[in-house]
Amino acid sequence: MSKATTAVETYEITLEPSGKVITVKEGQTILDAAIRNGIQVAYGCRHGSCSACKCQVLEGDYEIMDRVSDYSLMSFEREEGFTLMCSTLVESDLVIEVEEEESDLPFFAVHDFEAEVVENKAVTHDIHLITLKLEEPVEIPYGSGQFFEFDIPGLEDTRAYSVANKYQDSSLIEFHIKRVPEGKGSNYMCDLNVGDAVTGSGPYGSMQLRNRDKNIIFVAGGSGMAPIKSLVEELFSESFEKEAWFFYGARTKKDLYLTEEWLELAEKHHNFHFVPALSQPDAADEWDGEVGFIADVITKTLADMSNSDAYLCGPPIMIETACDALTKGGVRGTDISYDEF
Ligand SMILES: Cc1cc2nc3c(=O)[nH]c(=O)nc-3n(C[C@H](O)[C@H](O)[C@H](O)COP(=O)(O)OP(=O)(O)OC[C@H]3O[C@@H](n4cnc5c(N)ncnc54)[C@H](O)[C@@H]3O)c2cc1C
Ligand code: FES
Repeated sequence: MSKATTAVETYEITLEPSGKVITVKEGQTILDAAIRNGIQVAYGCRHGSCSACKCQVLEGDYEIMDRVSDYSLMSFEREEGFTLMCSTLVESDLVIEVEEEESDLPFFAVHDFEAEVVENKAVTHDIHLITLKLEEPVEIPYGSGQFFEFDIPGLEDTRAYSVANKYQDSSLIEFHIKRVPEGKGSNYMCDLNVGDAVTGSGPYGSMQLRNRDKNIIFVAGGSGMAPIKSLVEELFSESFEKEAWFFYGARTKKDLYLTEEWLELAEKHHNFHFVPALSQPDAADEWDGEVGFIADVITKTLADMSNSDAYLCGPPIMIETACDALTKGGVRGTDISYDEF
């Protein structure tokens, strides 16, 4: 039954087979309501493209948002009541069938936040390092590798940006944002001034550190360095006896950043290896490091990757080719986590 409130209508969603009941507000997606109610379900992009958050509606009325393409949700699936939770608005009480995840990862509650920009510096020609100080609430616990969603003025949709530092009981959160030509969200973020206010919500995402008893392979390209940096900070904040590699792919030397910091970390920890690689170095780069696509560099560097966990973040083609190299090298598919953008 629907409950009338002063302004916003609310509905109940019954989750099968668990029988749990959650409340969803008009205008809120099923996924948002589930996450905010502490329900652990599979999801990825939160924008209707990866199809990770599929569920089946058994009873009730709902609206699938326009952003869901026919590739993400095929017409025969729509006819059978399947939908993507991240892009579905509720129009009555619902009964849905969804697989709830059993996860050993810590769960961090989602908060709406207001924050102030305390630093915004260009670290390459198109990547900005932005540090925010939380104002309301003053702290939001999060897991390394997770991301926050930002409200972008003039856009109905939010944009996701991954945390680049480990949570340290402080209100400062670092982000690495790549300026996308004509991109509304990334240009808004990169153009922020110190003192500006931003709003959003989080944390979201399940790319958290799972295990410190295995070798770990980190792979990133572009601003995909952000979640990997927070994961590596997390890894070395406690004892880690195995080997860890970080393969970072860029096109030319001017696309590299924080290189000194990574090399210092590798000097400090004998079991951490930083491998930057350029796919198209300029002659003027005088580059004597690895050259080629990151997938090939991984294969060349590591003969045996079995008993390793892997975490990847970068553009889709990099994720696809690197995952292929990792599985051929012996990493099990279930031991690979990634965020692509
Ligand atoms: C889980 C998650 C975490 C993310 N974390 C980060 C992060 O830490 N740092 C970061 O920089 N981005 C991150 N992103 C990507 C970010 O959310 C935006 O998608 C990105 O900033 C583009 O948004 P926009 O509004 O600027 O561009 P839009 O206005 O959405 O797109 C403008 C045009 O650019 C194209 N485009 C979109 N993204 C890219 C891209 N990355 N490269 C090239 N062309 C593109 C679009 O197809 C479109 O044609 C993340 C995305 C997800 C899903
Ligand atoms: S389609 Fe990616 S999370 Fe919903």
